[in-house]
Formats: sequence, structure tokens, C-alpha cells
Amino acid sequence: MDRSAKLILEGKEYDLPVMEGTENEKAIDISTLRARTGYVTYDDGFGNTGSCQSEVTYIDGEKGILRYRGYPIEDLAEHATFAETSYLLVFNELPSKQQLSRWSDRLTAYEMIHQDMRHHFEGFPTESHPMAMLSAMINANSCYYPHLMNLNVAPDSSKANKEDFIEAAARIISKVRTIAAFSYKKHVGHPRIYPKPELEYTSNFLHMMFSIPYQDYDAKPEVVNALRQFLILHADHEQNCSTSTVRMVASSGANLFAAVSAGVCALWGHLHGGANQAVIEMLEQILASGETIPGVIAKAKDKNSSFRLMGFGHRVYKNYDPRAKILKKSCDELLNALDLDDPLLAIAKELEEAALKDEYFVERNLYPNVDFYSGIILRAIGIPTNMFTVMFAMGRIPGWVAHYKETQANPKWRIYRPRQIYQGQVLRRYVPIDQRENA
Ligand code: ACO
Repeated sequence: MDRSAKLILEGKEYDLPVMEGTENEKAIDISTLRARTGYVTYDDGFGNTGSCQSEVTYIDGEKGILRYRGYPIEDLAEHATFAETSYLLVFNELPSKQQLSRWSDRLTAYEMIHQDMRHHFEGFPTESHPMAMLSAMINANSCYYPHLMNLNVAPDSSKANKEDFIEAAARIISKVRTIAAFSYKKHVGHPRIYPKPELEYTSNFLHMMFSIPYQDYDAKPEVVNALRQFLILHADHEQNCSTSTVRMVASSGANLFAAVSAGVCALWGHLHGGANQAVIEMLEQILASGETIPGVIAKAKDKNSSFRLMGFGHRVYKNYDPRAKILKKSCDELLNALDLDDPLLAIAKELEEAALKDEYFVERNLYPNVDFYSGIILRAIGIPTNMFTVMFAMGRIPGWVAHYKETQANPKWRIYRPRQIYQGQVLRRYVPIDQRENA
């Protein structure tokens, strides 16, 4: 088979190499195009651009496949802990017992934030959005660990360099839950609850969120399990907006805390990490307006209305979202175990049932996506809506760390620098202020 593509430009023919990934994804390598032809390619929003070669996560949206380092998400969600999944993403392989024990010990060792960082929290207004605090506090870690500013992650780096990377990765993965919980306590004006070293990752976070002085939060196993799965299912999703942001910042040589903090900012937008929040807001609106479920479904189908069912459909997963399938099960188990009397959750259940039976949604493969179930799960656990994106960020940190490492370990590492098609004014001369047309 011919392994190159032909491009004819201004009557001249160019061969462009074709690349193939390990799962047979095909691409045309245009990396020499500008040098050879003077042309660049145009791909607004990068929908057709492979920005890197990556070994972290594989997605096949048509078949509903999501794998981290080759392992199906279903297996990890069923059997792994979040600590184990984070090890897999960051260090490429599932850990041995000893490796996992050492990794977990490190996560425990770094769970506290520097005592001076309390003053940062005190400086934020009470109404601060937890995402603003999260990104600021993650970046502030750069001030406290100057020895981790210049990591060398090249495969042949020294033992000391490797050790620094492990420390930086463990610090950020561990501290994010403490920062997230402290942001919440700041927001609601409660005293901060310190982590407990004997608790594993998920339970420790729940403890810092929901314990109050002299009264420890008693987490039901279904709550711990739903949160564990939520975090694992959000741990990576290849080259989305925030991960590409992390890689972009990493490519400049910036430190890990700065790159991850930028990822948090990118995730904050409503087109990215905000969809699970939009689900709850939609349910609140339905409740407040008193609309019936058939009425809501009819409005979602009405082409004259801009209303869409939040948490239904997906740009990549066209048959089903494998993460939603897993979360649906743990969502059902959680709601049964908690037996909550929450009108929003009742509306969510009715909406799900009605949409799954409706021809319009069935024909278009519009199944509930991961955000639908994660919104309900987080609400049922008691996480406030404005913390939903923070929860997503917490899960995504190991993925961002893995992509940061991959960017800087690339033997051909160079700064990301896209081109543009300039459409602005052509050359014009400066006009003194009193001679301008608008003077
Ligand atoms: N409610 C009602 N109709 C819908 C919905 C929805 N949620 N989603 C898609 N449709 C309809 C469209 O109107 C279109 O109908 P048509 O063929 O009659 O014109 C058809 O389904 C295909 O929709 P597209 O917009 O082409 O699908 P696309 O892949 O572009 O959009 C998207 C995917 C953006 C996720 C869309 O389904 C949507 O807006 N969903 C609601 C928002 C949401 O839940 N976002 C979170 C996604 S998951 C994540 O980001 C992690």
C-alpha cells in the first residue's frame, strides 16, 4: 500500500508521509509543509489536527471505547483505586503491590498544604468561586517548592531528577483534594478539616469536605464507590481543551504547577467542565417552572426552540458513552442506598426514563452522557453545584500530569507555536491624533 499522500499545489506535486497509530488511526504528516511549500493548513478549532503523538489514552467514539494505557475503563472502574489509576496514567504501567504501597505513602505524606498557604485562603473573598481558588492555589505551590521548578523528565534523566518528578506528581495529585475541600470550607464559612493519614484518597477527601469539628463524617460504601468511579472516569480523555492547554504550557518549559493551574482555568468554561453543573441547573429550572416531563421532552425536540436536554448526546461518543454506562449503575446504587427525598433527583430519573423511550432521542443516539449521571451523583453526595467542576479537575490531575510528562519527555520537544491566517488590516501609516477622521 502507498504510504504517502499526494498534494498538488500550484501545479507542483508533493509527497506527504502518512502515519498510523497503534490502533490504526491514520494521519497525514504535514510537519514539513510550510518549509516546502510556503503554505500552512487551516483547521479552526483543531478538529482535524493531531497535535501530538500520545501513549496515554485511546478513544473510539463510534464503538464507545475508552482505555487508559491500553486498559479498558470498565476494568479500571470495577477493580482499581484512584491511587492505582493515577499511578498507571503517570508511570505508564499498573503498579506492583510494593509500588502502589510506596505511591500511596507518598500521597499521604504530601496531603497537607504548607501552613503558610492558609493565608492565601484567608485573602479570598467568601463568595470566591472554588475554581478560581483551585487554580490560584495550585499555581501558588510553585512558590513553596522551588526545587521542583525545573523537572527533567527525559527517560535518561538522573535518579535525582526522576525522584523530583515523582515528588512533584505526588504533591499535586495529593494536595488538590485538600485545596478543593478547603475551598469549599472557605466558601461556606466553616473551619477547615485536616486530612487523616489513615484514610485512602476518596474517603479522605469526603472527610475534609463533610466532617465538622468533633463530628466525623461517616461515608457510606456506596458514596465512596461512586466518588472513586467518578474520579477514575474523569482521569483522562486525550486531547481536549484543558489537556491541550496543559501540553501547550508544558511545551514552553513552565513548571508542572503552572501548567496544571492553566488546565484548571481551561476546564472552568461552560463548554468543557461545566456541563454537569448545567444538568443540575436545568433540573432546577424544570422544578421551578413546574413544567411536565412530556413538555420538557417536546421542547427539546422542537427545532424552533434553542433548548436542549443537558447531559444528553456527545460529540465523540455516538453510540454510547462508556463512562455514562458505568456511572448509571453506581448512580442507581447510590440513590437506593441514600434513599434521598430530593425533587431534583426524582425529575432526573423521570427525564432519563422518558428520553430513553422517545423515538427522537433513540433515533439520534442521544443517550445520557457522563455529565448527566455525574451531576446527579455529586448532588446526591452533597457536593454543591459550584464545586462540580472542581471535582472534575480533581479527577483529571493524573491525566494532566501524564500529558505534561509526555510533552517534556518527547525527544523532539519544542515549543507549541501554531500559525494563523491573518485577516486584518494591511500596512497603514500612523495618523497624528488631531488629523484622524474621528478627531
Ligand atoms: N437535546 C435535544 N436534541 C439534541 C441534543 C440534546 N441534548 N443533542 C443533540 N440533539 C439533536 C440535534 O438537534 C440534532 O438533531 P437534527 O439531526 O434533527 O438536527 C442531532 O441531535 C445531532 O446533534 P448535533 O448537535 O449534531 O450533535 P453534536 O455532536 O454536534 O453535539 C453535543 C453534541 C454538543 C454534546 C450535544 O448533544 C448537546 O448539546 N448536548 C447537551 C449538552 C451536553 O450535555 N454537553 C456535555 C457533553 S459531554 C462532555 O462534554 C464531557
